[in-house]
Formats: sequence, C-alpha cells, structure tokens
Amino acid sequence: MREFRAPGRVNLIGDHTDYNDGFVLPLALDLECVVRAKPAGRVRVRSLEIAGEIDLPADGSAEPREVDGWGRYAAGVLRVLAERGRPAAGIDATVSSTVPAGSGLSSSAALEVALALALCDAAGFELPPLELALACQEAEQVATGVPCGIMDQLASIAGHAGHALLIDCRELTVDPIPLPPELALIVVHSGMPRELAFSAYAERRADCEAAAARLGLAALRDATPEQVSDDPRARHVVSENARVLEAARALRVGALERLGRLLSQSHASLRNDFEVSTPELDLLAGTLEAAGAYGARLTGAGFGGCVVAIAPQDEAEHVAAKAATNYRRMTDLEPTWHRVRAVDGAGPRA
Ligand code: GLA
Repeated sequence: MREFRAPGRVNLIGDHTDYNDGFVLPLALDLECVVRAKPAGRVRVRSLEIAGEIDLPADGSAEPREVDGWGRYAAGVLRVLAERGRPAAGIDATVSSTVPAGSGLSSSAALEVALALALCDAAGFELPPLELALACQEAEQVATGVPCGIMDQLASIAGHAGHALLIDCRELTVDPIPLPPELALIVVHSGMPRELAFSAYAERRADCEAAAARLGLAALRDATPEQVSDDPRARHVVSENARVLEAARALRVGALERLGRLLSQSHASLRNDFEVSTPELDLLAGTLEAAGAYGARLTGAGFGGCVVAIAPQDEAEHVAAKAATNYRRMTDLEPTWHRVRAVDGAGPRA
C-alpha cells in the first residue's frame, strides 16, 4: 500500500483573476484528500465517505462525463495522464477526504492531485510539479466542462507550510510569503452549497475574454484601470489584481489591518462588479467584520460556499463564534467554521 495526500486550498485574495493571466494569493489548507493504493489491473477506487465505487480501465479510455459522481474526476485524471504518456497501470484504492465538497475549498482539485500522484506512482511515471498541476486542471475541465483556471491544482501541489502563495498565473511562478504568527485565518461555511456555479463561471470567463478582445489585449491582466472603468466585470479583474499585489506587500510587512481592508474591498468588488456573491455570503462577511475580524471575503468561485476572514490570533475563536451565532440567528442556516493553517503541497504520505 502506498499513500498520497493532497490538500484543499483557501484563497486569501484574488478571485476570478487566474483565468485572466492575473495574480492570486491562496494557501494549501490543513484539510486534505488521501488516496491509499496498491497496484492492480484496472482502476478501482472506493470512497470511505461517499457510497459508490468506481471501476475503470487503466488506459484512460473511459469517457469522463459518462462516469457518475466523483468518479468522473478519476476518469478525467486517467484521460489526461494517458495523453501525457502514462503507461496503463491500474490501482486498487480507497479515497478519503476532510475537504468539504462544494464549499469553495477545492475538494475536487485535492482529489485529482492525490489520485494523479497514486496513478503516476503505480505506473513508474513522473511529471514535474507544474506539469502535474496543468494536467489536473485539464482533468477538472474534462470532468466538469467548467473552464477553470490553474489556481486550485497549483496551490494543492505547490503549498508551503506557514506560507501563502503569490501565484503569477501568466508566468506560472509561485512566491511563498510567510504568514505572520499573530495572524489567524478563519474559514466559515455559509451553510449554503454553491449553486449555478458551473454555468455562471463559464459566462464570467467568456465576459472577461470578450472584454480583453475588445481592447485588443491578450488578457485582462494587461488592461489599465482607465481602459475598464465602464465595464464592471473587467473592472473587478483589474482592481483585484492590484489588490492581490498590495495584499502580498501588506502580508510581508505584517500590515494586518491593511490586509483586512483589501479583503473587504475584494468582497465588495466580487459582489458589485463581478456579481458572484449571494445575500448569505454578504451577510456572513459583514458579520465577521462586525465581530472583530480585520476583513472577510467570499473565497473561490462564489455563489455559495465559504468566507475567509483574518483576525488577531488571540481573538480568532471569539470572533468566529460570535459571528457564527449572529449569522445563525439571522438566517436559520448552520455555519461551520475552522481555524486553518497553511501546509505543504501534495506528496507521498509520511
Ligand atoms: C474556481 C476555479 C479557479 C478560480 C476560482 C475563482 O475555484 O477552479 O480556477 O478561477 O474559481 O477565483
């Protein structure tokens, strides 16, 4: 038996920028997917949490979107690895994950990366980390049809304990920035699953590409604030890129209040200009700020899922508990919160 782990991620700031060649600042989370595998003829994977077992040919010939449920991610991974030359070796495996599904914490990226590592290992096949991230991004796209960016899979692979990752999504470079010890990261699930995310995500991406094309640019990464001042979608991307770079600077010097304000501005931009928030996410972010967080914002694609907040280390429990109580009272929804740590990226399990 060999074991591989891959963490989920939380994005501190920089949403809907990755597919615009922009900047993001995620971290690999201490919630992870673990695959335990031994060599076999076919690819048989059983989830320890969700009913069902998949049984697929090892050569990547199964059509991902014809496979039900989470099995389509495995079929996607098999497909893209076969295209990159992975020999058709199978595994008998179990998968187990602490990353909550459908919450904006990249449970699917964690599954793809952990499975890809186990499958590469079983076949004696190796891909450099960046190639592995690109393969898993493509696996997500073929499995779901969603034209996602590179952030989730790259964060899961390139994670660095105690650090956030400043990723330049054009150059595909990763610059780890230490998280100050006095900073607490809180992730709160709104109690609302993500909805409409699939079609709306593709629409937003198409809007961004159309805006770049109108300006004659390769991507919105290259646009100036003046060029996009009357286009809310593009305005979000341009202002968010600037906020990510400013947030990275604030983090390096421990300017936590400034960082908090940037998170709040990011949320406002995602709500007003990019229109991917929900009333519940707005309320939850506001409740966390009112309870004493430096700042809070929706994290990931939006349309439900989680809010990330930063708070002083010694006040984090109090802030999260108070916000959760108020949010519960106002919505009748059940929020769940975690204090999270940044961990190392995916690999064999010690
Ligand atoms: C999803 C996608 C990422 C990214 C975020 C929004 O998580 O998979 O590539 O676009 O949404 O920032």
